[in-house]
Amino acid sequence: MAENFLKKQLKDIEKKIKYHNDLYYNRDNPEISDSDYDKLIIKYKKILKKIPNYKENLSESIGGKPSETFTKYNHPTRMLSLDNAMSKEDLENFRKKISNFLNNKTDDFEFSSEPKIDGLSVNLIYKNGKLITAATRGDGQIGENITDNVITIKDIPKILNTKFPPVSIEIRGEIFITKNDFIKLNTENKFANPRNAAAGSLRQLDSKITAKRPLKFIAHGFGSFTEEKSNYYDQLIEFKSWGIPISPFIKKAKNLDELTKIYDEINKKRAEIPYDIDGLVYKVNNLSFQNRLGIVGKSPRWAIAHKFASETAQTEIKKIDIQIGRTGSVTPVARLKSINIGGVLVSNATLHNFEEIEKKDIREGDTVIVERAGDVIPHILEVVSKNKKNRPNLFKPPKSCPICKSPIVIDPDEVVVRCSGTYVCDAQKIGRLKHFVSRSALDIEGLGDKQINLFYNKGFIKDYADIFDLEAKRDAIVNIDGWGTLSFNNLINAIDQKKKIELSKFIYSLGVRFVGQINAKLIASAFSNIKSFTSFFEGKSDILSTLENTDGLGPKVIQSFIEYSSIKSNKKQILKLTQRVDLFIKKIDIVKSKITGKKIIFTGTLSSMSRAEAKTKAEKLGAKVVSSISKSTDILVTGENSGSKLKKAKELGVKVMNEKEWSNLAN
Ligand code: IVH
Repeated sequence: MAENFLKKQLKDIEKKIKYHNDLYYNRDNPEISDSDYDKLIIKYKKILKKIPNYKENLSESIGGKPSETFTKYNHPTRMLSLDNAMSKEDLENFRKKISNFLNNKTDDFEFSSEPKIDGLSVNLIYKNGKLITAATRGDGQIGENITDNVITIKDIPKILNTKFPPVSIEIRGEIFITKNDFIKLNTENKFANPRNAAAGSLRQLDSKITAKRPLKFIAHGFGSFTEEKSNYYDQLIEFKSWGIPISPFIKKAKNLDELTKIYDEINKKRAEIPYDIDGLVYKVNNLSFQNRLGIVGKSPRWAIAHKFASETAQTEIKKIDIQIGRTGSVTPVARLKSINIGGVLVSNATLHNFEEIEKKDIREGDTVIVERAGDVIPHILEVVSKNKKNRPNLFKPPKSCPICKSPIVIDPDEVVVRCSGTYVCDAQKIGRLKHFVSRSALDIEGLGDKQINLFYNKGFIKDYADIFDLEAKRDAIVNIDGWGTLSFNNLINAIDQKKKIELSKFIYSLGVRFVGQINAKLIASAFSNIKSFTSFFEGKSDILSTLENTDGLGPKVIQSFIEYSSIKSNKKQILKLTQRVDLFIKKIDIVKSKITGKKIIFTGTLSSMSRAEAKTKAEKLGAKVVSSISKSTDILVTGENSGSKLKKAKELGVKVMNEKEWSNLAN
């Protein structure tokens, strides 16, 4: 096959993998299941083999980048990843490579095996038996220092229970939440799965919140170490004696056959294991062998993850319903006869879209296989037996929205079918409110899907601003079943804590179509201060041309934002809201420069950057960017078609620079 074609394929997969990595590691918000992700990686590696001279761009991007809110931590020794084995053949290859590398004649090696826990890996640094630092994995080399949060986890000893602790040791393991604890914790529906809940809990800036979360820990390895045993298994048993939790399922095996037996056993009882596991990890037990085998890329040659197939179960579809999302998307949902899949009770499964229903020919009364991949919403794999008695017609999108009766329209750009009642539909309004308080937006503790439904239906919260007026509904709320003074006070406190909102987060939280986190940042950058933001919503100023000059903002996004802000009820809502919250713009670190403290104006069209970017750059260099020219203006930077400002600058004797001169100065 043409090499160029393969290269293009690789580039496309790289893009996809990077996108999904970012969702998984940095946003705790995956869109595809682990097994689909693994399939992408396998496909990538397969193509890669065909063009050995291709310079891959991926190894650096697998793993999370440290976020900016915690201080960075440079791991004394790199935290590694694992290669996956999906088949017997993969396992056989793994073993062969080990024998060849060690030049070993026998086929048997002692391995240690334990479940692969679906959580977050951490590095715990103990010095003379005392926990000094705890850090996330990050990109393997640099993680985040989360010591304050990890200290709150009861499972993790702060002092090792031994008279003779090593001078220094890095203990590695997984932080996770059990399936049951997840169900109890997730009443607000803020997390997609236990792993996201664990990640969200660990990344709290306030460790008091982490302390309330049921986080557990199991060790599965170590980094640098001043004293060690001769094999991995014995070392972990020693950890146990120091008070460090290790897997109760850790087992030694002499060869692949024994490992396969362990795999089958654990796979069978997977549902009974209280936390999500997605396979087993096999490690060469002998530590000097491990040392000799070393690392290839980001993974050790001495270990492999033997993945399980995702968990599935059979059940019947009682009914097919539709759900209207916050952007009006109409998603068909299967209401199921409740079924336990891998220890979690499942009663709904998404049908994704109407094409999917048709393709798989799914109808009410059919018996289907449901997959719960642990990391995504349950969905239907296939129909196993059709409801033959009175097989209903194929489920089609309704003509009008069942909630607001507005016409349902088919978006020609997408597969998606939408309710057209954007600002009148209760379902869309509720969806936007849920988004507003969700984890990626304002993240208000104690206010999630369930509470928004309740408060909306009771008329306590009709728009965003009402959230901040909830105190007035105290008497009514404390008398609702399941509520009381304490829980109400907690909620009010949590709301109070989220009153200071960074402008880009605020814009994102509004749930405007196409305005995700990145576009929200770009839109926010078009406003020089909060005043200009509010005056825009008061109809006193315009932002369209600045938005159009903002690099990276496409016409669809701009149109959607402008349309949103032109609607009277939205304007009213935003202004009401801005009276209750405290908006701010993140201060940028100013670099002292020749233009620090100077007043600067940009006029005309710049060719090398947008005006918004030039402004940000000038602000970073400590200049004040102004819009009208006066004697006190220091510099006028002119692009093409500069017009009246240039004339005035000359009259006033203001220094004039062209784009090239500006860019030399700024860089
Ligand atoms: S060993 C030697 N053992 O899986 C490589 N990892 O895909 C270090 N994980 O980042 C990992 N359970 O967070 C190992 N029993 C286990 C594990 C395990 C879960 C995670 C770990 C690692 C990731 C690699």
